[in-house]
Amino acid sequence: MAPNAAVARVPLAVTIFVAVATSMLLAPAEAGLYSDRDALLALRGGLQDPDGALRSWILEVNPCEWTQVTCDRVANRVTEITIGHANLSGPLSPELGKLDQLTKLWISWTNIQGTIPEELGNLENLNSLHLHNNSLSGQIPASLGKLKSLKQLHLQQNHLTGPIPSELDGLSDQTSVNLSSNDLCGQIPTDGPFKNINSSLADNPRLGGNC
Ligand SMILES: *[C@@H]1O[C@H](CO)[C@@H](O)[C@H](O)[C@H]1NC(C)=O
Ligand SMILES: *[C@@H]1O[C@H](CO)[C@@H](O)[C@H](O)[C@H]1NC(C)=O
Ligand SMILES: *[C@@H]1O[C@H](CO)[C@@H](O)[C@H](O)[C@H]1NC(C)=O
Ligand SMILES: *[C@@H]1O[C@H](CO)[C@@H](O)[C@H](O)[C@H]1NC(C)=O
Repeated sequence: MAPNAAVARVPLAVTIFVAVATSMLLAPAEAGLYSDRDALLALRGGLQDPDGALRSWILEVNPCEWTQVTCDRVANRVTEITIGHANLSGPLSPELGKLDQLTKLWISWTNIQGTIPEELGNLENLNSLHLHNNSLSGQIPASLGKLKSLKQLHLQQNHLTGPIPSELDGLSDQTSVNLSSNDLCGQIPTDGPFKNINSSLADNPRLGGNC
């Protein structure tokens, strides 16, 4: 009787061990994707979207299946957001700063308002940031100068004010920067991307003068 019970218990113990070990292996990847999903839902939750441009963004569906969202299927993480020509209004959620595998953030030709969250400076893999043709206001966050992978910073056609943070001269001199058609003022940084002709600062009447 006792030997039989012992034999029966071993497979159960092995099964439990395998199940726990498997869930430990899967947990980090799943946790990253759930965190990405929650950050995107925070963005959506703050926006008015009368035309339903983001209607596929729902909790029960894998965010890799949502429109405007691209994932790295091996890492199982969100890597790109591409939203254009949509009647979205409301602010950009600071939760976007948690999308640590994001390489591309494009939200352009919408009506998003408010300030650019300084948390975007945490997106260390970001390659291109396009927030042009919106209604963003306030200052350009100095934290964007931390984006060492950035190749494109396109913030033109908004209502941005204040000086260009000197920290942006820490961006690569290969970065294409477009800040035109805002209301920036003060001194223009002279290093990094601001040495190049592919930095466009046109149509900021107070730039170079006092703030
Ligand atoms: C865009 O959405 C707002 C409501 O958020 C609405 O008042 C406005 O008329 C819409 N504009 C267009 C062009 O549909
Ligand atoms: C971009 O925004 C400006 C106004 O800020 C508007 O005149 C222009 O037509 C927009 N461009 C596009 C391509 O939508
Ligand atoms: C910016 O301009 C420089 C030359 O001034 C060029 O080498 C570089 O490729 C350009 N970068 C982009 C992103 O256009
Ligand atoms: C910067 O944006 C403005 C306004 O949209 C555009 O006219 C200009 O061609 C852009 N400059 C560069 C270098 O892309």
